[in-house]
Amino acid sequence: MSPYEIISRKRDGKILNESEIQYFIQGFMNESIAEYQMTALLMAIYLRGMTADETIALTRAYIASGISIDLDDLEGLKVDKHSTGGVGDKVSIILAPLVASLGIYVPMMSGRGLGHSGGTLDKLESIPGFRTNLSLEEFHRVLRKHHLALIGQTAELVPADKRIYALRDVTATVDCIPLICASIMSKKIAEGANGLVLDVKYGSGAFMKRVEDAEALAKGLINIGSAFGQKVIASITSMEQPLGNKIGNWLEIEESLDCLNGGGPKDLRGVTLNLAMHMVKIARPELSREDAMRLCVEALDSGAAMQHFLEITETQGGDIAVLQNPSAYPTSTHTSILKAERDGYITSMNTYEIGMTSVGIGAGRLKADDTIDPKAGIILHKKCGDTVKTGDSILEIRTDIADRVQPALKRLKDAITLADEPISQPALILKEIA
Ligand code: URA
Repeated sequence: MSPYEIISRKRDGKILNESEIQYFIQGFMNESIAEYQMTALLMAIYLRGMTADETIALTRAYIASGISIDLDDLEGLKVDKHSTGGVGDKVSIILAPLVASLGIYVPMMSGRGLGHSGGTLDKLESIPGFRTNLSLEEFHRVLRKHHLALIGQTAELVPADKRIYALRDVTATVDCIPLICASIMSKKIAEGANGLVLDVKYGSGAFMKRVEDAEALAKGLINIGSAFGQKVIASITSMEQPLGNKIGNWLEIEESLDCLNGGGPKDLRGVTLNLAMHMVKIARPELSREDAMRLCVEALDSGAAMQHFLEITETQGGDIAVLQNPSAYPTSTHTSILKAERDGYITSMNTYEIGMTSVGIGAGRLKADDTIDPKAGIILHKKCGDTVKTGDSILEIRTDIADRVQPALKRLKDAITLADEPISQPALILKEIA
C-alpha cells in the first residue's frame, strides 16, 4: 500500500477499503503523507464520490485521529443538534437551554461563522464574558450540572478534520457530500452525543441550494450516525429567506431572548420548537409528538428555558445583566434604513447576498483573522410575502463602518425582489427524514 496507489485507485473510480482509508488519514496526521498527496486524494474523492461504506470508514479514521468523549456516566441519551448553516439561524441558542430545561443532556459543540453564514460561537461570544473554550473536563462538569454545555471544537477532538478542512477550503473541495458527512459526523460522534437532530437547509442562503442535494446530504449524515449507533433525525428546512428578523451576533442574541421569553418571530419559534420536539422524542421515545411538543412550548412560555439560559450563561462566564436588560448593550454609530421605492409585494430575498452584506458591515469575517463587530447587522422589517407601500422601511442596517453603509444598502436593495403580485412561499419545514 502506498499513497500513490491509493490516490490512483480513487482517481480511477475504485472503492477504497477501510485499511486504505485508515492508512491515508493516519499517514497524513503523522506527516508521512504530504499535504499535496492529501489534496490529490480529496480532489479524487470530490470527482469520484464515495460509497456509504467508504464514508463510514473515513468518519472512523477522522474520529481515531483524536480523543472521543465518554459521557456514559450521564444517564439517558445525550442529544445534540446540528444545522448545516444559514442566515439569521439562531435556533441553537434557544433550543439548547429549552431542551436542557426538560432534563435532557445537550452536549452542544458549535462552530464559527463560515462565509455568508453565522456561527453559534460568535453569537454567544457577543455576550460579554461568555467563554466557549471550555476544557473537556469543564465541558463534562458543566454538562453534568446544567444538562447543557456550549463549546467550540477543541484541539483534541477530530484533529484530522481541522487540518483537512483547511486544505478543502483552499482547493475547492468543500462542497462534496461524503467529505461534508465525515467532517460533521466525526465531531458529533466524538463529542459523545448518541442522539442527533439535523437541520439541513436548502435555498439561496444555504450551502445546498437545491432540495435534492439537501436530502442527499441528510441521508448521508443519517447513514453515518446509524452506523455508529446514534439515533438521528433530519428536518429539511428552507433558507430561501433569513430565519427570524435579525442578522448579526448580538442582534441574534436579542431575538433569541425574545423567543426565550415566549415571543419572537413566528418562523424562528416554529423551527425551534419543531427541532426541540425531535430532540425530546429521541430522548423520550415513549412520548407522542404532541406531548413532546407540548413540553417544549411550556418550557418556552413558562420562562423555564430562559432561566436555564441565564444559568448556563453565568456558569460560562457571561454577563447576565445585559441579557436581563438588552437595551444597555452598546449600539452602532451608523443606522440606516432601506425604504421601498414603489408599492408591491416582497417575492424573494437572495439570502446569500444578505448574509454577505452583513459580513461586509462587520458582522462576520472576510478572512479568518478578521475581528467581528458584535453590534453590527441587519434588521428585517419586511419578509417574503409582505406587502409594502412606497416609503415603507424594508430593513435597517447597523454598523460602525461609515463608508460601507451606501454599498450595503445598494447590495441589499438588489437582493430583494419587489413585484406587483404576491407569489406563494415555500413551506418553511419541508420534510423529515429519519
Ligand atoms: N461544516 C463542517 O463541519 N464540515 C464541512 O465539511 C462543512 C460544513
